[in-house]
Amino acid sequence: MTLGNVEKEFTAAKYLQNELHIEQTALSKIADAVGTPAYVYSKSYLTDQYNLLSEALTSTPHQIHYSVKANSNLAILALFKSLGAGFDIVSSGELSRVLAVGGDPKSVIFSGVGKSVEEINFALKAGIGCFNVESRGELLRIMAQADLLGCVANVAIRVNPNVDAKTHPYIATGLKENKFGVTKKEALALYLLAAENPYINLTGIDCHIGSQINEPEPLLQALTSILELRDTLEKEGISLQHVDLGGGFGVRYQDETPLDINDWGASVGQILGGRDLQLRIEPGRFLTANAGVLLTRVEYLKVAEQPDHKNFAVVDAAMNDLLRPSLYQAWHEVLPVDKSSKEQLLEWDIVGPICESGDFLAKQRSLALAEDDLVAVLSIGAYGSVLASNYNTRGRAPEVLVDGAEFKVVRRRETVQDQIRLELELELELRQTGH
Ligand code: LLP
Repeated sequence: MTLGNVEKEFTAAKYLQNELHIEQTALSKIADAVGTPAYVYSKSYLTDQYNLLSEALTSTPHQIHYSVKANSNLAILALFKSLGAGFDIVSSGELSRVLAVGGDPKSVIFSGVGKSVEEINFALKAGIGCFNVESRGELLRIMAQADLLGCVANVAIRVNPNVDAKTHPYIATGLKENKFGVTKKEALALYLLAAENPYINLTGIDCHIGSQINEPEPLLQALTSILELRDTLEKEGISLQHVDLGGGFGVRYQDETPLDINDWGASVGQILGGRDLQLRIEPGRFLTANAGVLLTRVEYLKVAEQPDHKNFAVVDAAMNDLLRPSLYQAWHEVLPVDKSSKEQLLEWDIVGPICESGDFLAKQRSLALAEDDLVAVLSIGAYGSVLASNYNTRGRAPEVLVDGAEFKVVRRRETVQDQIRLELELELELRQTGH
């Protein structure tokens, strides 16, 4: 990748007079204000993606449930709520986040293979909209807890349609070897069982076959497959109100051609074929990935001593801030914040300060760099900040939301006091009492 082709339209980052901006805000201004590393998101990009998806489905009755796991910052949840989104959650922690921004519990779908008793009770008491049930054991557990609480749980069964999403194996979920959902045969048995239970209200059917899906066929195949089961259930006298297709809509990171969302929307309408069903989707990445950049500063340049050595740009962000390259060999564009550099173009591995050779953000990138330069790692709005850790006792980076020429910090930088708090009190107690 050379500097020549970096003005990519597909992300929220763009150059204005050689300076990389998010909306009308220069990234250098944000670095001056909050330091680096920092995650920076564009409010208008998030809004536009939401509207794009919603418009692609205008002719189909639908509800978008934003998948909180992609980026769970409260400001982002509040924004999607204001646009009319419901939420897809996978833990009681995520439910607490939705409730913290005043989200309607009825707009919440609870997915995930390992819902604990405490999580189920919390969700039942909050009155969530639907449990996406992933196993017989979970269904029995929800029945028992709803009985104990004297309430009725809305349920959809998550079907594993055994469809290949053609994506990275770690993020494919719809194949029979994956832990998610149940087979159609088992799903039928679970619907028949649940239909007899007074504490269960069967509202829908669900699937989610994977993430970063760029071809429409697997998604359409999965829809066709679960509709067959829905039609069988209808004949059995079990009438459902919604079909949940999950998330997974791919985005461009490098040179992928993502799914045409309008064509996909039209095909979904055709396949639903006038059935009286609400379509639900659970997008995460599509809404947030390209809305965000990770802003980082070059600490040191280690130039190759010999021709067969590499050039390393050691930056102040690391695998604890962005795990995707290390975990999935994911490719993220790296751009200089100031494009007017007179430095020589060299091929750099962009690496962090963490003591692991797996700590890299990008490899073999042609860039003109000097120490102290700011660079931006693109497309990190989904599965960026949420996968951050404190490895090497590094504080989590702040998050910033840009709105035009204004920006605000929506998560402050984590301090070492934040990190050691849970241990320090115990350590002090131990020191005082001697045991
Ligand atoms: N619904 C369910 C049940 C899911 O498991 C997921 C993602 C989604 C919706 C949202 O999928 P999306 O629209 O974002 O593709 N950490 C990985 C991605 C893991 C996805 C897990 N499930 C990555 O960085 O690529």
